[in-house]
Parts: sequence; structure tokens; C-alpha cells
Amino acid sequence: MGEGTTKIAAERASQRCIEPACGASYAMGERLYSCPRCGDLLEIVLRPEGRAAPQAWRGWWEARAASCDPRDASGVWRYREVLPFADDAPIVTLGEGNTPLYDAPRSARYCGLRALQLKHQGCNPTGSFKDTGMTAAVTQAVLLGARTVVCASTGNTAASLAAYAARARLQCAILVPGGQISSAKLAQSMDYGAVVLEMEGNFDDAMRVIREVSEDDSIYLVNSINPFRIEGQKTVAAELLRQCTWRVPDHVVVPGGNMGNSAALGKGFLELLELGVIDRLPKLTIVQAEGAAPLAHLFAKLDLKSSAHAPLSNDALVPVEHPETLATAIKIGSPVSWKKSLRAVLATGGQVLSVSEREIADAKAVIGRDGVGCEPASATTVAGIKRLVAAGHIEAEESVVAVLTGHLLKDPDYVIHYHRNMLRAPHHSADGSQQERSLNGAFRNPPARLQATKAAILDHLSRAAEEAKADGPQLD
Ligand code: F0G
Repeated sequence: MGEGTTKIAAERASQRCIEPACGASYAMGERLYSCPRCGDLLEIVLRPEGRAAPQAWRGWWEARAASCDPRDASGVWRYREVLPFADDAPIVTLGEGNTPLYDAPRSARYCGLRALQLKHQGCNPTGSFKDTGMTAAVTQAVLLGARTVVCASTGNTAASLAAYAARARLQCAILVPGGQISSAKLAQSMDYGAVVLEMEGNFDDAMRVIREVSEDDSIYLVNSINPFRIEGQKTVAAELLRQCTWRVPDHVVVPGGNMGNSAALGKGFLELLELGVIDRLPKLTIVQAEGAAPLAHLFAKLDLKSSAHAPLSNDALVPVEHPETLATAIKIGSPVSWKKSLRAVLATGGQVLSVSEREIADAKAVIGRDGVGCEPASATTVAGIKRLVAAGHIEAEESVVAVLTGHLLKDPDYVIHYHRNMLRAPHHSADGSQQERSLNGAFRNPPARLQATKAAILDHLSRAAEEAKADGPQLD
């Protein structure tokens, strides 16, 4: 570090309870996941030594992008002035971050926007945004002397933890809902050498059990309830702003599951505002899948005029007991970090909404048509933006960034089923019975079976070109 007066030394940070009425503070070296006094979530509070001009912060971060030093090359550790670690911390890195920000003209048109940018966090080393948090959480595990690191997961956290634990040579156990996560994600965890535990029940059950397991001192829990995970993940706010040449977008839209990502982004933007690196906030909006949308339900009931600064009671969020969505990454009914993320949404003037399975599936295919692609959970963003534009909450001329959280190849079965029209989603009929319905996606692109002749291929190509023209008005 060593760039003068603004560095935040580890001893100038603390862990603090997020509940204003409690506000208890704990030392950085304490292995905690919730406040021992009142049980609420903890967050890390940083106290910078003095202030620097916005250009100074930006200048250091820009300069490091060209360096080959692993700390500078990492898109997380490059922003170490805002991370609660000492200069000589033994960082565990896979070169995370540095993910692309794409222009997406077809997705923009689909949403009714003049332009749309996609921040592709699926381009991280294990294919999801989780790596930006895991580098910090596993570094903290090493500092605490943990022997075993654990998480409950819908697949991506597990794959990421398994990789970083392998780098740090720590034992790793991942707990996943059996038969409910994509085989690509499971394959990653197995290959990285984790102890893979498939259990009965859903993600929320796994989360409850893993919290009990991590009461044991030698075991370190790295779900996003862990405040060090959030610290790593918040750096994407700085990286995104740097890619926007520090012009703050009007809206940043993220999917919502367990709510760590939205909480982290919100913290990142708010801290950058406090430091004077930016002079306004983007509106942070969270999109959930309809069948797993407890925060969207709560948001719809809030009186926005009075709730922005009112404390949120712990039982305000009503969990969805049986969450349902084909976007398995966000099949979560009782999100652990909902209070933090709702606080960020309210502080920035954003929203929380939900979208249907059909909207998610079509938005995902459209993102594919921009040559970008993503996993289903990520596509809630574009589906949500389309809704918000149609409802007049986002203007066509506003600047909008959708954060894609996972790579297209994270869930290939979903993709193939969509294009072959075999994707079926649960549907509740009026009499309360549950059926499955075909999604009939609008942008299906199934493979063709042809004779192996030149004529057959040329004929098919010209028919495909005609069909693409018919598609044109929607996307081009
Ligand atoms: N997108 C993807 C691809 C995810 O894997 C997740 C969460 C989310 C969005 C939601 O992010 O939980 O921070 O609100 N996946 C977790 C997991 C739950 O175990 O991999 P969140």
C-alpha cells in the first residue's frame, strides 16, 4: 500500500452490529457471523486516515491495472485501501475481478432502452461473482487459523469456496440441496477437492444446519453472512465505476437470492460516496424470481415515504416456505442478508421486484443474442429492467447497468431445454393444484437435423436467414 495518508489499516476497522439500537462493536480478529449481543448481522466499518481528492483514489486504482503484481492484478485487492486487511496479509487469490462491461444493443432494444451495459461477473475464475468475496473470506480464514471452511450453497458459492480452499490448502466442506443444483456447479466442487455433502431439503435448510456446524471453533463459515465476504464483493462497485470512467450510472440492477451481492454493492457505492470518490449514488434495484421473492413481497408493502430511515424489524420479512424457480441459484425463501440489502435499496432510491419464469428464460436468450450469455439467475436483471421501463420507472435515455452474476455454461441443461422447448415451470392453477407448464420461449434456437449434403445446408441457411429477419423487429 503505502500511498500516504488515506490507507485504511486493519487496526482502524471493526466489526459492528447493523442494528442501530444495538450497534455493538467487535475486534477484527473475532470469529463472528452475527452479533453475540442481539443476534443481528455484522458489518465491517472502516475509518480512513484522512481524506484524499477523488482524483487521488482513482489515480492509484487506475495505475495498478497495468501492474503484474498479483495484488494489483486482482480486481479485488487492487482496491485494498477500502479492504480491512493489513499490507502483509497472506492473500489467497486466483486473479478474480477485472470482469468485462459490455454494451448490449439487442438487450437494450428488448428492454426499450437506448443503451444497456452488462457487467459480466460470470467471467471470474470459477464462473461467478462469488470469487470476489471468496478471496477475502478465505484470506480471513487463513488469518484466523481455521482448519476447515464450509458453506451452504445453491452451487456457485460452493464451487468458488472449493477453489479458493484448494489454493489455501484448507479442508473444505460444501452443503448443497441434493438434486437441486446444476451438475456443472457440482462438477466444479468435486474437481477442486471439496467434501461434497448433498442433503435433503432446500437451501434454507442447508443454511440453518451449516450455521450450527460452524459453532465449532475450528470451522469457518463463508456464506455471505460472513462480513469479510461482503468486503471482497463490494469492490465491484469501484471496478464498475472505473469502467464507466467514473460517471455514475443512473441504475444498477442485480439478481437477489440470499442478498449478499446487493448488500455488498450497496456498501461499495455508499463508501465511495462517503470517501468523495463519487458525488452521487446509482439507484440499486434487486430482481427476484416470482416463486422465490420474499424481499419483493416485503418491498411492495413498504410505505416508501416513511420507511427509508425507519428501523426494519427482524420479523418484517416473511420467508417463502417452499421457494420455486428454474433459476436454481436463487431458489431461496429466507435470505440471510435481506436487511442489509433492503437498507441499500432504500438509501439509493432503487426498487425490489420479481419476474416470471418465462420472463427470465426469454431475457436469458436475448442476452445470449448479444454474444454475452449468462446463467438463468443473472437474466432476472434484464427481465426486471424491461418491466421497469414499461412501467415508466426507468426512462429510455437513462444509463443502466445489469450485473450478470454467472456464466452461461453454469447451467447447460436449462439452456438446451429452453431451445428445444422442453423447459417446464411449476404453475399454480386457480383451484390451488400445482401443474407444470411448457415455457414456450420466444427466442428458441434448436439445432436442425439435416442430410450431409451441400444443398441441404445452403437451403437451411437461407431459410434461417428469413426467420432471423422475422425476429428482427424485436431485437435489431
Ligand atoms: N446469481 C447467481 C448466479 C448466484 O449463484 C446467486 C447466489 C445469486 C445470483 C444471488 O446472489 O445470494 O448474493 O443475492 N448464489 C448462492 C450460492 C446462494 O450458494 O451460490 P445473492
